[in-house]
Amino acid sequence: MSQDVDSNVRFQCKKTRVRLDHDYLNELEKYFGHENEATIEKLQNFSKYVPQKNIISFLSRNEIFRKILDVHGNIVECGVLFGGGLMSWAHFSAIYEPINLTRKIIGFDTFEGFPGKHEKDGPGEFGEKGDFASHSYEDLQECARIYDILRFKNHVPKIELVKGDFTKTGKQYLIDNPHTTIALLFLDFDIYHPTKEALDIFMERIPKGGIIAFDHLNYKGTAGETVAFMESVGLDKYKIQRFYWDPLFSYIVKE
Ligand SMILES: C[S@@+](CC[C@H](N)C(=O)[O-])C[C@H]1O[C@@H](n2cnc3c(N)ncnc32)[C@H](O)[C@@H]1O
Repeated sequence: MSQDVDSNVRFQCKKTRVRLDHDYLNELEKYFGHENEATIEKLQNFSKYVPQKNIISFLSRNEIFRKILDVHGNIVECGVLFGGGLMSWAHFSAIYEPINLTRKIIGFDTFEGFPGKHEKDGPGEFGEKGDFASHSYEDLQECARIYDILRFKNHVPKIELVKGDFTKTGKQYLIDNPHTTIALLFLDFDIYHPTKEALDIFMERIPKGGIIAFDHLNYKGTAGETVAFMESVGLDKYKIQRFYWDPLFSYIVKE
């Protein structure tokens, strides 16, 4: 299935995406360049341009966010990349619960890509050192500044970014923030070691009713994510749920 196709999309799984996927993305990119609308008009009409896969995950995130509206605590995104997912949580929080001052949206990433694979990751397509280097840390600070312009109670920061290898920054974060409670832990590191660390240190921070969501459970290209979950939590402890429209997203509710 591996394809040698021209694409401006930097982080795609060439092994699992077929030519049609790339053709679709290339066509969308070309279409986005048309001059009938100004850039802001294109953004206002985003559904004309956003790839279906990203609309799907936006819907899933919205759905999962609604499930934790009455659960106290932060939203932690493990693996931020360019921040589209992180900013979705941020918008949902600003829209659905403008006065929830204690809910932080916290994103952990090296912002320099994967630090390297563990043997438990297997030969999957993700995780080579330096892959997915987004260099988006400063960009996301600017994005958060603009997001704050219209946000109610914007004197209280909503978004926190933690830069560095999570196997080092995770524990330190809890030392610096011993009050941390997590309503939603979204695991999207793709690889074993930081996923295992996140489950090990954050599980006790999630109250009853809190959710752990996964982007890639039961996915061959990211075997380490499933292995980490099996080792830290176990497959038979909770019902692993999904949304019928999304092939990747899954979640458990901590009962
Ligand atoms: C699949 S991407 C995240 C995608 C993002 N959640 C989204 O919705 O667009 C995986 C990210 O995990 C980060 N990552 C992987 N291992 C890490 C580690 N040990 N510490 C911090 N970040 C890590 C990578 O830098 C990469 O940006």
